[in-house]
Amino acid sequence: MASTKEVIEKAKTFGSHNYAPFDLVLTRGEGAHVWDPEGKEYLDLLGGYSALNHGHKHPKIMAAAHAQLDKIAVVARCFLNEPLAEMAESLVKLSGLDRVMPMNSGAEAVESAIKVVRAWGVRVKGLAPHKAQIIVCSNNFHGRTTTVVSFSSEPYYREQFGPLTPGFTHVPFGDIEALENAITQDTVAFLAEPIQGEGGIVLPPPGWMAQVRELCTRKGIALIWDEVQTGLGRTGKMFAWQHEDAKPDLMTLGKALGGGVMPVSACVGKREFMDAIHPGEHGSTFGGSPFGMTIAKTALEVLVDEKLSERAAELGPKAMQRIRDAKLPGVKDVRGKGMLIGIELHPAMGGAHKLCEMLIKNGVLTKETRKHVLRLAPPLVISEADLMKGVDITIETIRQMYAQADQGAISASP
Ligand SMILES: Cc1ncc(COP(=O)(O)O)c(C=O)c1O
Repeated sequence: MASTKEVIEKAKTFGSHNYAPFDLVLTRGEGAHVWDPEGKEYLDLLGGYSALNHGHKHPKIMAAAHAQLDKIAVVARCFLNEPLAEMAESLVKLSGLDRVMPMNSGAEAVESAIKVVRAWGVRVKGLAPHKAQIIVCSNNFHGRTTTVVSFSSEPYYREQFGPLTPGFTHVPFGDIEALENAITQDTVAFLAEPIQGEGGIVLPPPGWMAQVRELCTRKGIALIWDEVQTGLGRTGKMFAWQHEDAKPDLMTLGKALGGGVMPVSACVGKREFMDAIHPGEHGSTFGGSPFGMTIAKTALEVLVDEKLSERAAELGPKAMQRIRDAKLPGVKDVRGKGMLIGIELHPAMGGAHKLCEMLIKNGVLTKETRKHVLRLAPPLVISEADLMKGVDITIETIRQMYAQADQGAISASP
């Protein structure tokens, strides 16, 4: 097996440089544990940005994947396959929505939802073609495709990639009045994350999701929740909108829908909206493959059978409380929902990326979101003992970091 150094050199030489990864190579994983080529073990508190809610190599998902591989893996979408029908049925039953459009990446699921509501605008709402406006939030993250970055409010994601797709208006996240004021005759939908993940684990004010639901119904526009990161148990409910019973017209899922094995995403929605797209107008070669659908269906079963949402609801607050109780100097805020947790550092601490590097040395994997927020999104299968061990290492590492920081600057503006 190649060493860490050899893999890094080869990847840097031959791979594209659109990521700047840590100097860490992972070769093996099991549950919430991963190993590098030299055999060093790490606790995974990042969980693949929520792609690993089931942990690495979940035995039931692996068994289903192997069994399906022995039957058939890919079927062209001009034919049908049983796992596709079954996975769609499971997701409809879990969400209370009507139809499932399987895709691969999270960004593709968002693209699908955009096309669905634009088609609905023309075919059902009676808008002239090319008029539809979609309202989104500032500080959003919905993926990296050209249309999706067109409505990012981060210049860094957007500026080099024009010309951009028009048709999007921004309102501040969590501001119901601004949303109401932004709706015009041309508005077809409001698209938002229930909690902004990549934006720094930002929670909206309590009640906002329910208010958004009421407003969208009253104004006759579609509500799209992007649950790619928050969905599938992460926040302590199967879907984050369930915290306020704010059932959407359309919902996007991804990440953990692939059971920690492969990319699977979906746009799920009410019939009235989903049926606005006609055969041939949208699709994906691999979206809906029997292999992906078997994995997704099993991933959903595991979430329910192992009560992984309930685990997130129980363990996440315990982890947050432990960090708060440590009263760490240099930490401005500890926030989150379920097992989606953000630890905001004082700017004088030197940035959350540096903290991630120190944590890797101490055997814990995490990743910053925005410059000063450390994100914890552990696999939901993690044992309480492992989670608390990881939290304790994080607390200790933040103390180490504070010892090296400009403490005068921190106490001058806490
Ligand atoms: C809320 C949200 N939507 C969409 C995406 C894009 O998913 P993908 O990277 O699979 O395209 C992400 C990824 O982080 C996300 O957090």
